[in-house]
Amino acid sequence: MPDAKVIVRNNGPLRLEGQDIVITDQDGNVYNLAGRTLVSLCRCGQSATKPFCDGAHKQGFTSECQAYELPPPKPKA
Ligand code: FES
Repeated sequence: MPDAKVIVRNNGPLRLEGQDIVITDQDGNVYNLAGRTLVSLCRCGQSATKPFCDGAHKQGFTSECQAYELPPPKPKA
């Protein structure tokens, strides 16, 4: 059983659930999640608190996703 899970919410954020969630910026600086075991990341682009969801997607964002299998990764040259 994985210790972390990402749930793609229809018309909403990516919800991360886990005991040891670590989110960094591109330079490796860690966002202090203050012990949260549930965090929502914006995927609509409208949040004022990116990368976190602030509920702005409710003003109009449509994206319904169902799980599917990805093709194997291409070999690196
Ligand atoms: S997904 Fe919630 S504000 Fe973007």
